[in-house]
Amino acid sequence: MVRQEVAGGVAVLTLANPPVNALGAALRAALDGALAQAIADASVRAIVLAADGKVFVGGADITEFGKPQQPPSLPDVLDRLDASPKPVVAAIGGAALGGGLELAMACHGRVAAPSAKLGLPEIKLGIIPGAGGTQRLPRLIGPDAAFAMMLTGEPVSAERAAALGIVDAVVLGDLVAAARTRALELADSGALPRVRDRSDALTPEARETFEAGAAEAVKRDPDATNVHALIRAVRAGLEQDFDAAVATERAEFRTLVEDPRSKALRHAFFAEREAARVPGLPKDTPRRPIQAAAVIGAGTMGGGIAMCFANAGIPVTVIETEEGALTRGLDRVKGLYAGSAKRGSITEAERDARIGRITGAIGLENASHFEIVIEAAFEDMGVKRAIFSKLDTIAKPGAILATNTSYLDVNAIAAVTSRPQDVLGLHFFSPANVMRLVEVVRADKTAPDVLATAVDLGKRLNKLPVTVGVCFGFVGNRMLERRSRAGERLLLEGALPHAVDAAVTGFGFRMGPFAMSDLAGLDIGWRSRKDFGGRAPVADSLAEQGRFGQKTGRGFYLYPDGARTGTRDPEVDALITRVADEHGIARRSFTPDEIVARLMYPMVNEGARILEEGIAARPGDIDTIWINGYNWPAWRGGPMHWADTVGLRTVAEALSRFAVETGDDSQEPAPLLKRLAAEGGRFVDWKAPA
Ligand code: 3HC
Repeated sequence: MVRQEVAGGVAVLTLANPPVNALGAALRAALDGALAQAIADASVRAIVLAADGKVFVGGADITEFGKPQQPPSLPDVLDRLDASPKPVVAAIGGAALGGGLELAMACHGRVAAPSAKLGLPEIKLGIIPGAGGTQRLPRLIGPDAAFAMMLTGEPVSAERAAALGIVDAVVLGDLVAAARTRALELADSGALPRVRDRSDALTPEARETFEAGAAEAVKRDPDATNVHALIRAVRAGLEQDFDAAVATERAEFRTLVEDPRSKALRHAFFAEREAARVPGLPKDTPRRPIQAAAVIGAGTMGGGIAMCFANAGIPVTVIETEEGALTRGLDRVKGLYAGSAKRGSITEAERDARIGRITGAIGLENASHFEIVIEAAFEDMGVKRAIFSKLDTIAKPGAILATNTSYLDVNAIAAVTSRPQDVLGLHFFSPANVMRLVEVVRADKTAPDVLATAVDLGKRLNKLPVTVGVCFGFVGNRMLERRSRAGERLLLEGALPHAVDAAVTGFGFRMGPFAMSDLAGLDIGWRSRKDFGGRAPVADSLAEQGRFGQKTGRGFYLYPDGARTGTRDPEVDALITRVADEHGIARRSFTPDEIVARLMYPMVNEGARILEEGIAARPGDIDTIWINGYNWPAWRGGPMHWADTVGLRTVAEALSRFAVETGDDSQEPAPLLKRLAAEGGRFVDWKAPA
């Protein structure tokens, strides 16, 4: 796991623990041993720490969290590294994250390749750095800059790291050679610069800025346990000596590892990675090459999808039926890129390059020479089938034909072609250029190589592709429909829109369902219910009055003078009471917890049905979809993980009660949920029958 080569007085220790050199017990022990050996070797004057692969070190091994610790601990190894009488220089060739950066900071020098990224992302896992990171980073770059970096968890580039003082130099050529030179220089000079001994960056001004940043962070997210812990740890470094402050950090870290928020975030981390693997699809499934793409439709979705390709460096042609729609669509895309360049999130050169990758064309015949065609036309089965039957005669053999439908039957769309094996769904979320989630809809006849290519393409587009089966609304929208239905019912039973929305934002969503409806437009659901059936008496009554939400200034709330946040409207309250009376529904009050249960348990129930039907392969896939497509609070781990934390018995019993209270039998717990509840089981342990 650690290769050791001694030459010219320098021992080069190379970590080799693919895929990301995570510092698991075996690697820690190997590193500790190799270090001791190099220190004992009289022919060695200096040590270089390098790593194989694209990642220097991806951090502590997250799979070990919550399990009994195997010695040596990372802090112990880093203490011995720090105390080495011979200088150690880290050669950071790729990402040095979390424990990886902590390892590098315990060295006496650091050089980095230009492509390296350095960061302490622990906050995103609900924890804080636990191997000296909260102490060494402030000593290198000041408590203010260090706190800012640890609070976002975002890594910095090598160049930025050098400017901040995290690394000594960025090396263009042979990184290990440069590290050797630096290590020998240190050995020759007799200097052993230890980050722990530094205090020059701990100035009163930097402390003041840190405290101001800390106060702001707490105000933004008062319930984030790890933000409070981070603040305490950084503050300890300003008030205690290094060893005492490291002990404070370690105690905070240990507590956080057991925090339900961290458990949920770790679940989300692994679920997201697992979702990329499609059961039954071998790794070596052949892929079809994709050099360029066509997108049919220049509307909001089509334009957004085209941007995903352009952003990933893949040329894309947007096809429309008439010039006006095409120009409007392309102008909107150009406007979005111009905005990004203006804000500085991309350079002007990058803006021009991306715009340059998008061309427009009129007429479906222009789709003839692309390896993939993504249809993003109007959400109507007739329209889609017409497009696909034409595409069948136009697209070149072997082209992947994808539909961006969010509800419709992909099998029925595939059936109008003579090549259903080439057809699948690619359900991008709006805005497509921003949202990471893509539901990859595998139809009955989709060929394995088409599916594998689509999943790969999703990753190439920097998206999070999750494979799902065909059903109305797939995974995400099918569950959302349950929440919407429960929301309407709550209104009729006595909870007003603002109370429901407050309970949902209190739960951790950025927006409540009714504010969301107003933003998306009530006409969308109204039309879809007209097409597909279903009733939402309150929302439909509002839509019938032309109250479409923000765009008409009135929906569930009022938006006077173009306001973005709605205010309560007594007319809506009266309308709800009237509709409830018409339906003979007695009204009562609901606590926020009751509202949450009424809205979310039916979603969990639908998730169980989705698993039983094989529409999603794993509960974690459902969680990944809800966290990344619908803003489910990641720290609650997604609906299925959350249900596990509530207890499936509680969920099942409540659902049976809701079925009685609402007269809706479909609220009865699904067989899978019922069984797990009876067995004291959890979704997380559930495996699809082979
Ligand atoms: N521990 C255990 N497994 C890890 C890991 C870690 N720190 N980091 C990545 N992995 C695993 C992934 O689960 C995945 O496994 P799989 O192939 O079985 O699904 C595999 O390594 C590859 O990971 P990615 O698919 O994410 O690979 P990428 O090349 O896209 O990204 C990366 C590499 C940027 C390193 C990314 O994996 C990443 O961000 N990792 C987590 C970084 C992190 O949060 N580090 C902090 C850990 S906590 C810590 O260090 C505590 C310390 O302070 C004490």
